[in-house]
Amino acid sequence: MSRPRTVFVCSECGGTAHAWSGRCPHCRNWNTLVEETRNPVGAAVAPEDARPMSLSEVSIDECDRLATGLPELDRVLGGGASVGSVILLGGEPGIGKSTLILQASMNMAAGGIPVLYASGEESASQVAGRAARIGGAPDGLAILPANRLDTVCGAVESGGYRVLVVDSVQTLHSPDLQSAPGSVSQVRHCASALVNLAKPRGVTAFVVGHVTKDGSLAGPKVLEHLVDTVVYFEGDSSRQYRLLRAVKNRFGGTNELGVFEMGSRGLSGVADASGLFLRRESERVPGSVPAAVLQGSRPFLVEVQALTSPTRFGYPQRRTSGFDTSRLAMLLAVLERRCGVDLDSQDVFVNVAGGFTLGDPGADLAVCLAVASSRLDRTVRKGIAVCGEVGLGGEVRPVAGYGRRFTEAVNLGFSTLAGAREDTEAEKNGAPGFQRLSAAIGELLDEKGEGWL
Ligand code: TYD
Ligand code: MG
Repeated sequence: MSRPRTVFVCSECGGTAHAWSGRCPHCRNWNTLVEETRNPVGAAVAPEDARPMSLSEVSIDECDRLATGLPELDRVLGGGASVGSVILLGGEPGIGKSTLILQASMNMAAGGIPVLYASGEESASQVAGRAARIGGAPDGLAILPANRLDTVCGAVESGGYRVLVVDSVQTLHSPDLQSAPGSVSQVRHCASALVNLAKPRGVTAFVVGHVTKDGSLAGPKVLEHLVDTVVYFEGDSSRQYRLLRAVKNRFGGTNELGVFEMGSRGLSGVADASGLFLRRESERVPGSVPAAVLQGSRPFLVEVQALTSPTRFGYPQRRTSGFDTSRLAMLLAVLERRCGVDLDSQDVFVNVAGGFTLGDPGADLAVCLAVASSRLDRTVRKGIAVCGEVGLGGEVRPVAGYGRRFTEAVNLGFSTLAGAREDTEAEKNGAPGFQRLSAAIGELLDEKGEGWL
């Protein structure tokens, strides 16, 4: 049988070369050649079995779901792993990917689903040791310490497994390619081979991939379009809480958040997580505002912090952690133009406490109030949490799910949840509502006080 042919393809112009060189011979760009395998010309390729058909005659496969035994993971996946899908689990080294996936594997195996755990990263005894620490080794869980793609494929083809775990895709390699394990071409080649392996067999595959802090390492980013679902595990590894979120999901939404706690016996889901990101005892200091945000179906109360400080030289800086920088730039412009808060010569820093990332426009009001609060050196009124979207005209707009946010805020000890005047739900609850951001700043910011509650 003739072997697949290796070619080098330029990622800029698409030109090909037979040997790698630092510069593309066609477009003269540097470092753009990437190795790829091609089937040899004339290789027997099975005819594709496809024909056009009317959309109405297509039978709809109800997608079956596989429960992982970890409700927080199942929720993020959209109600369990969809059978036959390929799920990429990304995250920084040490965050707990192997632990999470091993726990899910153990649960599924204990439920009678045969699982193959291919570990290129750790030895069989290391994995067994971790399994023992987490709670034993169920019968249906097979471990395969292997680095070669063909070994893993062979085991799946002959083993009758329903779930495949590959930990990690960066350690897997195929000798068909010359490049080193972990390089872009190896990672992409192995991942697409895994997709082709799992899909037709109805095997659900979990693929672990490392990313560095800037997300740049060869791996997950180049794989995102190949797989069905991409979930990222994040959070500060020095803190005990870990957050799991989907960034792509062909079988569900992407805005659910899973919260886990790392303990001495592995990860446990935190079902009641709404108050985790709020320090109850925190002092009410200027620049700190409690926000009620919605992440998927769940409300959370988070502390939004802002600090303004006079710019010493050059351009004023705008830095954020857990909040979109361009959204902040927009909100700062609204504060300046519509509310007369002078930020021209101020550096502005915004931080969301506890490693939480705000994706909900309902957090705008809290961010604006936090910045104004720091700049004006006034604290937010006692007992008040806020939610509301802020528009370019300086108006405060109603948010989705006010009722759920309100209930959670009150459960956590706040007396009310301030929002938009037009929010009928807010009105029903007798909460302070504002039409304009300037009015909210005027009424919600106080002189200095001691506690939020
Ligand atoms: P790991 O799953 O190996 O991370 P990754 O695969 O993402 O690199 O987990 C790494 C950390 O988790 C490690 O620092 C040890 C810690 N840990 C616990 O605290 N408790 C446990 O029960 C386990 C298994 C790990
Ligand atoms: Mg690992």
